[in-house]
Amino acid sequence: MKAEILTLLRERDGYVSGQELCDKFGVSRTAVWKAINQLKENGYEIEAVPNKGYHLVGQEDVLNENEIASRLKTKWAGRKLYYAKVTGSTNLDAKSLLENGAPEGVLAVAGEQNQGRGRRGRSWQSPPDTNIYMTLGLRPDFAPDLAPMITLIDAMAVAEAVEEVCGLKSQIKWPNDVVIGGKKICGILTEMSTESNGYIQYVVIGTGINVNVREFPEEIRDKATSLCIEKGEKILRAPIVAKCMECFEKYYERFLQTMDLSLLMEDYGKRLVNKDAKVKVLDPQNEFEGIARGIDKKGELLVEKEDGSIETVYAGEVSVRGVYGYV
Ligand code: BTN
Repeated sequence: MKAEILTLLRERDGYVSGQELCDKFGVSRTAVWKAINQLKENGYEIEAVPNKGYHLVGQEDVLNENEIASRLKTKWAGRKLYYAKVTGSTNLDAKSLLENGAPEGVLAVAGEQNQGRGRRGRSWQSPPDTNIYMTLGLRPDFAPDLAPMITLIDAMAVAEAVEEVCGLKSQIKWPNDVVIGGKKICGILTEMSTESNGYIQYVVIGTGINVNVREFPEEIRDKATSLCIEKGEKILRAPIVAKCMECFEKYYERFLQTMDLSLLMEDYGKRLVNKDAKVKVLDPQNEFEGIARGIDKKGELLVEKEDGSIETVYAGEVSVRGVYGYV
């Protein structure tokens, strides 16, 4: 009920009367009053005026289950939702939820991570109450070798969500970093568990988005940025989480139609930061330079070599850099 009250208050310019809330939810005045008080304890400023009702004052950057749920427009993504003020890693939380029977689309979100994990064994800086740390759990019914494509789908979802909510042009550095102005704002860590028969048990897609952080450690300062730095103002996190779920659901369902990226690769190509630009493929076995042309339906990067031939680059352990820097 609290999430629905929030939605109503947010959508109404004026006041929502106590009676309207009682009628809508079929509860007593006391129950409404209690719910409003709990919302106030959660950090919302709610004005209560006799004979008029309740009014939500301002928009705070509150992140919790009710705030996210009150903004969700999905069928299944994020519909089962867990928020922790502090956790080790939301990827570990999502795994444990799935191991204990949570359904497809379960979402673990945290305000802070003290063991945030990045790709290639690196850590992920996760300061409190500033950024987004969330992990979506899926129970796919397809072969494990298709799972890496989910990461590309998530990158598309984040890029679209950020652009829609914040109005910032967002691109993708293949395979799955979301960048603004050539600097990284989001990293994705996808992990999978398989059964002994080789089928997928579950997949977790962990997404870290730099939202309101203003300072970065020296070693990543030239390649990382945040939405707040780029926009020049503080950003609300919950609308981004909700929009990411909406975009992910849309793209993932499109992927399921063909079990590949054929319906998505054109949109992905439009967001590819180094499309038609020179890139260096850092494959220990075969390092080379060429022009990035887009992706194929398996999510492999198509790189045109000097002799005009096209090399497909599989994400795995290979990384691709711009010839002069990060993108
Ligand atoms: C990368 O190295 O680019 C991937 C970073 C992924 C970070 C996110 S934050 C939410 C989820 N929980 C983690 O511990 N990692 C991912």
